[in-house]
Amino acid sequence: MQNGFHTISANPANCSVTILDQTLLPWQTVYRELRTLDEAAHAIRSMQVRGAPLIGVTAAFGIALALEAACDDVALDHALAVLRATRPTAVNLHWALDRMRARLSGRAPGARAWQAWHDAQAIADEDARTNAAIGAHGLPLLQAIAAARGTARVMTHCNAGWLATAAHGTALAPIYAAHAAGIPLHVWVSETRPRNQGLLTEWELRQAGVPHTFIADNSAGHLLMRNEVDIVIVGADRIAANGDAANKIGTYMKALAAHDNRVPFHVAAPLSTVDWRATNGDAIPIEERSAEEVRNVVGLDANAHIASVRLLPGEVATRNPAFDVTPARLIRSIITERGCCTPETLGTLGPTV
Ligand code: MRU
Repeated sequence: MQNGFHTISANPANCSVTILDQTLLPWQTVYRELRTLDEAAHAIRSMQVRGAPLIGVTAAFGIALALEAACDDVALDHALAVLRATRPTAVNLHWALDRMRARLSGRAPGARAWQAWHDAQAIADEDARTNAAIGAHGLPLLQAIAAARGTARVMTHCNAGWLATAAHGTALAPIYAAHAAGIPLHVWVSETRPRNQGLLTEWELRQAGVPHTFIADNSAGHLLMRNEVDIVIVGADRIAANGDAANKIGTYMKALAAHDNRVPFHVAAPLSTVDWRATNGDAIPIEERSAEEVRNVVGLDANAHIASVRLLPGEVATRNPAFDVTPARLIRSIITERGCCTPETLGTLGPTV
């Protein structure tokens, strides 16, 4: 499915972490070595790595890199603070860092670096297993649609595939599971302006041989209204305890259009994406990113070089909220590693440690 690619891998023996640089995808596949805390923080902030689960995994490895340089309490607290400040919405970042802190703070400083590599790898391995389970739990939804009408026509948003995780993806995990099971599928992939993460989804699905069509974001409502979509599955960056779910900007509009057309809208996410302290979506911090992402668009120029093209002069006012919150009332189910639940019954699945 991943065609030999991997999003992240650790090399404790030479104190480095290898990442696939997603800012160059889908045009170039370039692996980069991270060797320091600052490089790990930069990779998350600049979105060389992205997607809520992968942000958490990278932060965990960032702690290991930091402790190779200095391992006392001050260094540990500093590393935690630097990584926590990288991106505000994906709660998996804090989940992973809380877990690293709990495992490391009581350890003798001299034993911390080794322990951090071990625990970060455990988080990565767990993420891969978790996402495989999400795929297995979401598969029956697609099986039932294909059984009823021949093909399951799925719409997704942004990229919640293997690129956004240690492996398998979240929203794309049921799609990959269905494809592997021979279930006929078609996926609507929306561009996801301003950063166009839909290009990553298109690239993933092309590698995997999953039939799909790329659309402009604004086409989604029309396709939902014209009965060309059977199910919408998206990922999440933070889900409040009441089931309100933050995901990439534009998700809410898809949820509204799906609801208006009685198309089921599902959120696929690990339980590490649930913020049990956020009682509802109002408590979810929404990242505001640079205006340059709205003013420019990145692609290939006539010489097949990656180029950024300016759409607007610098003085034009822009706003760039990176996420929105889909209210629980618009969500049919949340597909987790412990099974599917409604937003109302999310609490019965319980927190993960
Ligand atoms: O800004 P990004 O690209 O990190 O946002 C990613 C998303 O919104 C994904 O849908 C979400 O993180 C789920 S990834 C499995």
